[in-house]
Amino acid sequence: MAQLTPGARLKLGILISGRGSNMQALIEAWREERISADIRLVLSNKAEAAGLGLAAAAGIATAVVPYRDYPDRAAFDAAVDAKLRAAGVDFLCLAGFMRLLTPGFIEAWRDRMINIHPSLLPAFPGLDTHRRALEAGVRLAGCTVHFVRFETDTGPIVAQAAVPVLPDDDEASLAARVLAAEHRIYPLALRLIAEGRVRVIGEKALVDAPAWAAGALVNPAD
Ligand code: GAR
Repeated sequence: MAQLTPGARLKLGILISGRGSNMQALIEAWREERISADIRLVLSNKAEAAGLGLAAAAGIATAVVPYRDYPDRAAFDAAVDAKLRAAGVDFLCLAGFMRLLTPGFIEAWRDRMINIHPSLLPAFPGLDTHRRALEAGVRLAGCTVHFVRFETDTGPIVAQAAVPVLPDDDEASLAARVLAAEHRIYPLALRLIAEGRVRVIGEKALVDAPAWAAGALVNPAD
């Protein structure tokens, strides 16, 4: 797999499983040249993922790797890895990719794979995030962009955004408010990485935030 070259444009792969709205936010940032990157491939484990159509409409190559075609997780991950390599991908964005990856895959892409999760990690990793946040009675919810480590929804944090939890919120209304924040911080985090402003030191990401990102790292203004 190609190594990252300082200053070179990232060659992105985006992994999705469904709607693809975060992928779309990354595509829009790329189209508007807010991110110094080329999107080489959008890959889904589900053929019916709506995001595949959005990517194709944007002129981006797509691939489907259905999990059921492979005997186990390692074989599935190897097939995904092979598609990414063939496309020349050197940096990966998980955007609603809902399959657990094997330790071997995660190690191969260490510090070159980020994920977005709809909570203020380390709170509420995993599924049913918004239901658990509402049950816990938290006053702030939010989202996190982080480098991927083996434990689900863990790894060095690049960016977070907080949103209020309102008294009459249900899962749908909270998810919608968080999703709007996701669409702001995912491109922002990727831009910081693409500009070489993020260094991963052990389990922390050190961000050399320029003025345009300083406020946004905590709670992006509209
Ligand atoms: C997003 O809310 C994303 O944060 C979440 O799935 C949704 C995908 O929506 N990811 C996770 O929960 C990962 N643990 P999208 O397909 O419209 O981007």
